[in-house]
Amino acid sequence: DWTMAAYRDTKVREIREQVGEGRVICGLSGGVDSSVAAILIHEAIGDQLTCVFVDHGLLRLNEREQVETLFRDHYNIPLVVVDAEDRFMAGLDGVADPEKKRKFIGAEFIAVFEEEANKLGGADFLAQGTLYPDVIESVSFTGGPSVTIKSHHNVGGLPERMNMKLVEPLRELFKDEVRELGRELGLNDQFVGRHPFPGPGLAIRIPGEVTKERCDILRKADAIYLDEIRKAGLYDAIWQAFAVLLPVKTVGVMGDHRTYDSVCGLRAVTSTDGMTADVYPFDAGFLTQCATRIVNEVQGINRVVYDYTSKPPGTIEWE
Ligand code: XMP
Repeated sequence: DWTMAAYRDTKVREIREQVGEGRVICGLSGGVDSSVAAILIHEAIGDQLTCVFVDHGLLRLNEREQVETLFRDHYNIPLVVVDAEDRFMAGLDGVADPEKKRKFIGAEFIAVFEEEANKLGGADFLAQGTLYPDVIESVSFTGGPSVTIKSHHNVGGLPERMNMKLVEPLRELFKDEVRELGRELGLNDQFVGRHPFPGPGLAIRIPGEVTKERCDILRKADAIYLDEIRKAGLYDAIWQAFAVLLPVKTVGVMGDHRTYDSVCGLRAVTSTDGMTADVYPFDAGFLTQCATRIVNEVQGINRVVYDYTSKPPGTIEWE
């Protein structure tokens, strides 16, 4: 009968057969799918695999360090981390339109990835964490502004251009099965249960212009909010929770002086597939605690609001 352990063994054999002595390159996003794909492939072919993680400066607090620790220290998987923050920030300079942000980030991501692949002397195969729902529908299962959604997770066009074949060991699996396979491969519950995070990252959580300074402010507020959610034991009851940084300044008072700083929005929704979503009904005390901590601990924010809009008519992200 069918078990995840048996599936793992079968896939390891298949990957070995497909790849032979070839070299494989895998783009990590920090998410569950690409991580599970990479760990499985590494189990099959060891150091014929190299992972590439692009730090575009739009990640959450400590995310890059977590990826480095997990892949390098825990799994011993060859990992190249590309520090591309400066070029992403330069390219986002003056860009306020959400779709223009997405387009730039997607194209730049592919450019960075291709450069790294070339530096590594190329590869015979490109590994991707494609899931079954991605295979049966051209539209992403996450249900956002379709097409654009996954365009920079799977590095579109690159395999053909660099003459690479695809290795996609998760093509038969649904999300919950990928999580189970992840656990089978030794990933902890906290990692496999992580909320989805969009490819364009914090850029679409900063309406208006994105700067490194604004990313830094948002990272701090977001980390405090998630910390409170975990402490309250609510993380797993929520589909996605995150902070947004609004391009609006309001007046506040701190001690005996007036402040004039940005507004932070908090969002939390329940959902099964991201297509529709309901607002998570925190109690008032919880939200007050988050607001107090964020305003006290994050310089640049002096007001916090909670988003009560379901999807539809709202979207989960603010852009
Ligand atoms: P929306 O905001 O459309 O989001 O209700 C639905 C789901 O999709 C994610 N999302 C994205 N994921 N690239 C991604 O990889 C994107 O451009 C993108 N836009 C939205 C969002 O986080 C939610 O899970």
